[in-house]
Amino acid sequence: MKQKQFDAAQLRQVAGCFPTGVTVVSCYTQKGEVHGMTASSFLSVSLDPALVLFSVKKENQLAQILSEGMAVGISILTDQMEAESNHFARIASMHPSPDFTDHDGAPVLAHSHAWYSTQVDALREAGDHFLVLCQIKSLEAFPEKNPLVYYQGYKKIQAE
Ligand SMILES: Cc1cc2nc3c(=O)[nH]c(=O)nc-3n(C[C@H](O)[C@H](O)[C@H](O)COP(=O)(O)O)c2cc1C
Repeated sequence: MKQKQFDAAQLRQVAGCFPTGVTVVSCYTQKGEVHGMTASSFLSVSLDPALVLFSVKKENQLAQILSEGMAVGISILTDQMEAESNHFARIASMHPSPDFTDHDGAPVLAHSHAWYSTQVDALREAGDHFLVLCQIKSLEAFPEKNPLVYYQGYKKIQAE
Protein backbone atom coordinates (compact mmCIF):
# COMPACT_ATOMS: atom_id res chain seq x y z
CA MET A 1 0.00 0.00 0.00
CA LYS A 2 1.24 3.54 -0.85
CA GLN A 3 2.56 5.47 2.15
CA LYS A 4 0.15 8.02 3.65
CA GLN A 5 0.84 11.65 2.76
CA PHE A 6 -1.03 13.02 5.80
CA ASP A 7 -0.93 12.64 9.55
CA ALA A 8 -3.60 11.99 12.19
CA ALA A 9 -4.04 15.71 12.89
CA GLN A 10 -4.82 16.42 9.22
CA LEU A 11 -7.17 13.46 9.10
CA ARG A 12 -9.05 14.79 12.14
CA GLN A 13 -9.09 18.32 10.72
CA VAL A 14 -10.64 17.22 7.43
CA ALA A 15 -13.17 14.90 9.14
CA GLY A 16 -14.08 17.83 11.41
CA CYS A 17 -15.19 19.85 8.38
CA PHE A 18 -18.18 17.55 8.04
CA PRO A 19 -21.11 18.56 10.30
CA THR A 20 -23.09 15.70 11.84
CA GLY A 21 -25.98 15.12 14.18
CA VAL A 22 -25.41 13.47 17.55
CA THR A 23 -26.86 10.12 18.62
CA VAL A 24 -26.68 7.92 21.67
CA VAL A 25 -26.46 4.21 20.83
CA SER A 26 -27.58 1.99 23.68
CA CYS A 27 -28.07 -1.64 24.59
CA TYR A 28 -28.50 -3.87 27.64
CA THR A 29 -25.46 -5.44 29.28
CA GLN A 30 -25.49 -9.06 30.47
CA LYS A 31 -26.46 -7.70 33.91
CA GLY A 32 -29.50 -6.02 32.35
CA GLU A 33 -28.11 -2.50 32.78
CA VAL A 34 -28.27 0.09 29.99
CA HIS A 35 -24.96 1.00 28.35
CA GLY A 36 -25.09 4.14 26.19
CA MET A 37 -22.41 5.73 24.02
CA THR A 38 -22.47 9.07 22.21
CA ALA A 39 -21.90 8.56 18.48
CA SER A 40 -21.83 10.98 15.57
CA SER A 41 -20.87 8.29 13.03
CA PHE A 42 -24.53 7.46 12.40
CA LEU A 43 -25.61 6.90 8.77
CA SER A 44 -28.96 5.98 7.24
CA VAL A 45 -28.01 3.21 4.77
CA SER A 46 -30.99 1.49 3.11
CA LEU A 47 -34.77 1.89 2.92
CA ASP A 48 -35.55 -1.69 1.82
CA PRO A 49 -34.44 -3.47 3.88
CA ALA A 50 -34.39 -0.68 6.47
CA LEU A 51 -30.76 -0.43 7.62
CA VAL A 52 -28.66 2.10 9.52
CA LEU A 53 -24.98 2.10 10.48
CA PHE A 54 -22.64 3.53 13.08
CA SER A 55 -19.01 2.91 13.95
CA VAL A 56 -17.56 2.19 17.36
CA LYS A 57 -13.92 2.47 18.35
CA LYS A 58 -12.52 -0.96 19.26
CA GLU A 59 -11.21 0.29 22.61
CA ASN A 60 -14.62 1.62 23.73
CA GLN A 61 -16.63 -0.42 26.23
CA LEU A 62 -19.59 -0.61 23.84
CA ALA A 63 -17.43 -2.57 21.37
CA GLN A 64 -16.98 -5.31 24.02
CA ILE A 65 -20.73 -5.50 24.67
CA LEU A 66 -22.13 -5.54 21.12
CA SER A 67 -22.76 -8.77 19.21
CA GLU A 68 -24.69 -9.78 16.10
CA GLY A 69 -28.43 -10.17 16.78
CA MET A 70 -28.35 -7.83 19.80
CA ALA A 71 -31.07 -5.18 20.23
CA VAL A 72 -29.67 -1.64 19.98
CA GLY A 73 -31.43 1.69 20.44
CA ILE A 74 -30.28 4.73 18.46
CA SER A 75 -31.53 8.07 19.80
CA ILE A 76 -31.08 11.28 17.82
CA LEU A 77 -30.45 14.11 20.28
CA THR A 78 -32.28 17.43 20.42
CA ASP A 79 -30.53 20.78 20.80
CA GLN A 80 -31.49 20.60 24.52
CA MET A 81 -29.41 17.44 25.07
CA GLU A 82 -25.77 18.59 25.19
CA ALA A 83 -25.57 17.33 28.78
CA GLU A 84 -26.77 13.87 27.67
CA SER A 85 -24.19 13.88 24.86
CA ASN A 86 -21.40 14.70 27.31
CA HIS A 87 -22.72 12.12 29.79
CA PHE A 88 -22.57 9.26 27.29
CA ALA A 89 -19.22 10.47 25.93
CA ARG A 90 -17.95 10.30 29.59
CA ILE A 91 -17.02 14.01 29.44
CA ALA A 92 -19.34 15.00 32.34
CA SER A 93 -21.86 13.05 34.43
CA MET A 94 -25.55 13.79 34.87
CA HIS A 95 -27.22 12.99 38.23
CA PRO A 96 -29.60 11.30 38.04
CA SER A 97 -28.51 9.64 34.80
CA PRO A 98 -30.87 10.10 31.81
CA ASP A 99 -34.01 7.95 31.49
CA PHE A 100 -34.44 5.23 28.86
CA THR A 101 -37.64 3.59 27.68
CA ASP A 102 -37.80 0.13 26.11
CA HIS A 103 -38.95 -0.27 22.52
CA ASP A 104 -38.92 -3.80 21.05
CA GLY A 105 -36.25 -4.92 23.50
CA ALA A 106 -33.92 -1.96 22.94
CA PRO A 107 -33.38 0.93 25.37
CA VAL A 108 -34.08 4.34 23.82
CA LEU A 109 -33.29 7.71 25.40
CA ALA A 110 -36.41 9.57 26.58
CA HIS A 111 -37.12 13.04 25.11
CA SER A 112 -34.99 12.52 21.98
CA HIS A 113 -35.64 14.17 18.59
CA ALA A 114 -36.19 10.73 17.00
CA TRP A 115 -35.27 7.13 17.76
CA TYR A 116 -34.78 3.73 16.13
CA SER A 117 -35.09 0.36 17.81
CA THR A 118 -32.79 -1.98 15.88
CA GLN A 119 -31.13 -5.37 15.82
CA VAL A 120 -27.43 -5.75 14.92
CA ASP A 121 -27.29 -7.34 11.45
CA ALA A 122 -23.51 -7.34 10.99
CA LEU A 123 -20.38 -6.29 12.87
CA ARG A 124 -17.37 -5.68 10.61
CA GLU A 125 -13.81 -4.71 11.54
CA ALA A 126 -12.70 -1.46 9.89
CA GLY A 127 -9.25 -0.41 11.09
CA ASP A 128 -9.44 0.75 14.71
CA HIS A 129 -13.28 0.72 14.61
CA PHE A 130 -16.10 -1.77 14.08
CA LEU A 131 -18.85 -0.92 11.61
CA VAL A 132 -22.21 -1.85 13.14
CA LEU A 133 -24.97 -2.42 10.57
CA CYS A 134 -28.41 -2.47 12.19
CA GLN A 135 -31.82 -3.57 10.95
CA ILE A 136 -34.63 -1.21 12.00
CA LYS A 137 -37.46 -2.80 14.00
CA SER A 138 -39.41 0.33 14.98
CA LEU A 139 -38.91 4.07 14.95
CA GLU A 140 -40.49 7.41 15.86
CA ALA A 141 -39.77 11.08 15.14
CA PHE A 142 -40.74 14.27 16.96
CA PRO A 143 -40.31 16.83 14.15
CA GLU A 144 -41.38 19.77 16.30
CA LYS A 145 -38.04 19.46 18.14
CA ASN A 146 -34.68 20.66 16.76
CA PRO A 147 -31.55 18.50 16.38
CA LEU A 148 -28.21 18.89 18.12
CA VAL A 149 -25.46 19.45 15.54
CA TYR A 150 -21.76 18.68 16.01
CA TYR A 151 -19.41 20.94 14.06
CA GLN A 152 -16.40 22.32 15.92
CA GLY A 153 -18.42 21.90 19.11
CA TYR A 154 -22.17 21.67 19.64
CA LYS A 155 -24.34 23.87 17.44
CA LYS A 156 -28.08 24.55 17.24
CA ILE A 157 -30.03 25.01 14.05
CA GLN A 158 -33.63 26.06 13.53
CA ALA A 159 -35.73 24.17 10.99
CA GLU A 160 -37.25 26.80 8.60
C1 LIG B 1 -20.04 14.33 19.65
C2 LIG B 1 -19.34 13.02 19.89
C3 LIG B 1 -19.41 12.01 18.94
C4 LIG B 1 -18.79 10.76 19.13
N1 LIG B 1 -18.92 9.79 18.18
C5 LIG B 1 -18.36 8.57 18.38
C6 LIG B 1 -18.55 7.53 17.43
O1 LIG B 1 -19.23 7.69 16.41
N2 LIG B 1 -17.96 6.32 17.68
C7 LIG B 1 -17.20 6.09 18.80
O2 LIG B 1 -16.69 4.97 18.96
N3 LIG B 1 -17.02 7.07 19.72
C8 LIG B 1 -17.59 8.29 19.54
N4 LIG B 1 -17.44 9.27 20.48
C9 LIG B 1 -16.65 8.99 21.67
C10 LIG B 1 -17.40 8.11 22.69
O3 LIG B 1 -18.69 8.64 22.98
C11 LIG B 1 -16.58 8.03 23.98
O4 LIG B 1 -15.31 7.48 23.69
C12 LIG B 1 -17.26 7.20 25.07
O5 LIG B 1 -16.59 7.46 26.29
C13 LIG B 1 -17.24 5.71 24.81
O6 LIG B 1 -17.99 5.09 25.82
P1 LIG B 1 -17.78 3.59 26.27
O7 LIG B 1 -16.29 3.31 26.28
O8 LIG B 1 -18.39 3.51 27.62
O9 LIG B 1 -18.52 2.71 25.29
C14 LIG B 1 -18.05 10.53 20.31
C15 LIG B 1 -17.98 11.54 21.28
C16 LIG B 1 -18.61 12.77 21.07
C17 LIG B 1 -18.52 13.85 22.14
